[in-house]
Amino acid sequence: MLLVKLFGAKWRLVLSVLFICALILELGYCQKDAQEHRTTPGRKPKPTKPKLGGKATNKGPRAVTAKPKVKATPAAKGQTLLTQVLNKGKFKKLGETLSVQAGGTLELRCKGKPVQWGVPSYLEEDDDGRLRIVQHERYGVLTLVNSTGADTGEYTCYPMYCEDTDCRKEYDKAVKVFVFFPDPQELFVPSSDYYEVIQLRTNWPTLLPCQVTSPEAKVTLHREFPPAEVAVDGAEISFNVRRGFTIHRPRPHHAGALYCVASLGNLRQSSTKYMLIYVNYPMAPPAPVIQASSSSVALGENLHVSCTVMGEQDVVVDFTWEYPGQQIGRPPYTQESVRPDGGGGAARQQSQSVLLVEEVREVDQGTYTCTAQNLQGAKSASTTVKVVAKAKPKKP
Ligand SMILES: *[C@@H]1O[C@H](CO)[C@@H](O)[C@H](O)[C@H]1NC(C)=O
Repeated sequence: MLLVKLFGAKWRLVLSVLFICALILELGYCQKDAQEHRTTPGRKPKPTKPKLGGKATNKGPRAVTAKPKVKATPAAKGQTLLTQVLNKGKFKKLGETLSVQAGGTLELRCKGKPVQWGVPSYLEEDDDGRLRIVQHERYGVLTLVNSTGADTGEYTCYPMYCEDTDCRKEYDKAVKVFVFFPDPQELFVPSSDYYEVIQLRTNWPTLLPCQVTSPEAKVTLHREFPPAEVAVDGAEISFNVRRGFTIHRPRPHHAGALYCVASLGNLRQSSTKYMLIYVNYPMAPPAPVIQASSSSVALGENLHVSCTVMGEQDVVVDFTWEYPGQQIGRPPYTQESVRPDGGGGAARQQSQSVLLVEEVREVDQGTYTCTAQNLQGAKSASTTVKVVAKAKPKKP
């Protein structure tokens, strides 16, 4: 009878938790889900970036006879190892950024014996023969031909430190240059996704990576509904031509569908859509406090062990229990509750899980541990309970 009752309670709890989670999921606010999946439910996993030249080849081969238009920002300090190779043995010192007209050839030379190269990740994944890396005696050369706007990104040279045949990258000596490949037809680096889901965590900077292929493009940020341009003041939201837009301290009102618009000359294009989902992100892992109704319980009596977390409002805390009765298959019969805590300035709440042990037996003696978890992490608290013989009624 007791077991049936306990299982009933357990399943009701599990079902109601599942139901609530499904309901929350519908609203797009289920924290766990948001943490584990970057894409919306039911959507196929994010495909890899477009194949090299995927977009370009569809439109037929590009003219490669045209001389690449080359332009660089002033040289940064220490960028002496990496140079750009121009026509016939001419070299050019590099700054932080460089532009090579899409369709043209990028040729970089880096001093070192040997060196290793870092390229935008999709070039690494889908090398279709356009990228060539050659190591000469005193320097390495990277050549990228038939470039497209999609090649836009960071190119890094790592000098290697070798002892006999054992080599490792010298990260502190790495030199990098951000290369734009301005494409007259594509202002944004192409993406194979129609939209991208991005999590906005409380007070964590969030990047909307709408990467342009030309440093000259003027980029603005827009909200889909209600349609409006989003103010970019450089403090709350800022723009970097090498990264995109950053929302520095996300708040719930930043959520929604956003996209970037780039314009250059007569061309005006929209980026991939970004679905921003706000997640109430806690500042710290929870700090549970555990307390048993009594540290010594008589056989046959009931025992309650409570686990309490004081935390920020609207931050979900998950509780799990370890207790001696688990060994004999006692189901976890728990009651969970959340109530606001009005005291103090910041809105806080108290989350609590109470483990109920009915009709205590000897096996229930031992350590009770509660683990409380939120999106920042988990912490445990323990207490021990002694089981004693029933108190004999005192003779009057
Ligand atoms: C570059 O483009 C030209 C002209 O379309 C083509 O003939 C050549 O094979 C391409 N080279 C590479 C390495 O893809």
